[in-house]
Amino acid sequence: MTHPALNMDLKPIVTGFFDPATNTISYVVQDPDSPACAVIDSVMDIDYAAGRITYDHADAIIAFIRAHGLRLEWLIETHVHADHLSAAPYIQGKLGGKIGIGANITVVQDTFGKVFNEGTEFQRDGSQFDALFRDGDTYQIGGMTAFVLHTPGHTPACMTHVIGNATFVGDTLFMPDGGSARADFPGGDAGELYDSIQRVLALPDDMRLFMCHDYGPNGRNIAWETTVGEEKAHNIHVGQGATRESFIKFRTERDATLAMPRLIIPSLQVNMRAGEIPTDASGRPMLKVPVNGL
Ligand SMILES: [Fe+2]
Repeated sequence: MTHPALNMDLKPIVTGFFDPATNTISYVVQDPDSPACAVIDSVMDIDYAAGRITYDHADAIIAFIRAHGLRLEWLIETHVHADHLSAAPYIQGKLGGKIGIGANITVVQDTFGKVFNEGTEFQRDGSQFDALFRDGDTYQIGGMTAFVLHTPGHTPACMTHVIGNATFVGDTLFMPDGGSARADFPGGDAGELYDSIQRVLALPDDMRLFMCHDYGPNGRNIAWETTVGEEKAHNIHVGQGATRESFIKFRTERDATLAMPRLIIPSLQVNMRAGEIPTDASGRPMLKVPVNGL
């Protein structure tokens, strides 16, 4: 694939922060030629049973950015996560930066605004975010020009972010031995996911790919970086030219066996608000559980 901003000579410095509670990897992406950086897919800690929220994971990222004297310009959400809560507003409050997500957040907000029976004060126009990306859009991190690919299928708002020779796929792909993410959430679609994965695999073979999740299949150590070439050759769901038809059949059958993610109910309510915790009529932070609503 070609995009005017594709630049394999640009090599951002990428540091991953693994969250063992949700198997999420958050990233700090640094411009090699300036103090500018971005944070991708941060995590806020929650003890759901206790309704307690803490910030150890986000604090580690903040400490890293401060220790390296970096300037945070962007907080990127690859999509509305259903398995962890975003810490973007918390980090933004400490370090600044703009929060960006795919423009189809409005579709996700509409769907889950209904599921959670949100009132009219819950805006479904994406206005909780500082930037809404469309396919092909570019943005700057210091001297680096990043661009985005709309890669729906897992969710309607999924975006893949390409920054020099580093690409952040969100849940579009897992490591080669992990395959792909589920496509059965509202607005998900296995065929669309296949098409989106093909767009990622059309990037140069030596493009570095960074995962949002890893579960260490078959007992291997947690890993989060691979390449387009490795995925094309070895991905267990889409590698070696797997067909769209076979992928849809496999993905649909597999998804029918999967339980809901443990944190889907709090995650959606927080993440569709760009990471803000909803409040009740008196202004107290409060989460809902829609009974038989998902
Ligand atoms: Fe996800």
